[in-house]
Amino acid sequence: MTLPLTLTINGHRRALELDDPRVTLLDLLRERLHLTGTKKGCDRGQCGACTVLVDGRRINSCLTLAASLDGANIETIEGVAEGPELHPVQAAFIEHDGFQCGYCTPGQIMSAIGLIREGQAGTDPERVRENMSGNLCRCGAYIGITEAVLDASARIGHSESEASS
Ligand code: FES
Ligand code: FES
Repeated sequence: MTLPLTLTINGHRRALELDDPRVTLLDLLRERLHLTGTKKGCDRGQCGACTVLVDGRRINSCLTLAASLDGANIETIEGVAEGPELHPVQAAFIEHDGFQCGYCTPGQIMSAIGLIREGQAGTDPERVRENMSGNLCRCGAYIGITEAVLDASARIGHSESEASS
């Protein structure tokens, strides 16, 4: 018996059939849809490597059953760039050396995009660290990550205010 599931993933509507109702969103993305940009670190909600946006909110996809998301809008790292143009958060991570091995980076970037959209990034590094505390980096690239989030937040805020003026 299969379970029908419709998701919009990075702007594309996907009609799926789940053969196991226990499959997590992370495993669905990586193993069935081959969207391997989202990483599996701990598989138990402790590292944030699997962060994606569901209906605009940051979630740990390893803790979320795909079957509970019928009709949801999912955004993953594969969908954030516009063609060859990187998302401002991606560009800021490169500029500020916000990574070393890169394993945590997709989750960090999705978390940062969610944080900036929530309007909660602010300008205080301590606040960014607190709001990104669910995303661990074993390489300890936290200084660059925080700088990148602050820079991208300032740039996105600036371009949005220009667009609305
Ligand atoms: Fe999901 Fe670590 S893999 S929180
Ligand atoms: Fe290696 Fe964060 S860059 S774990």
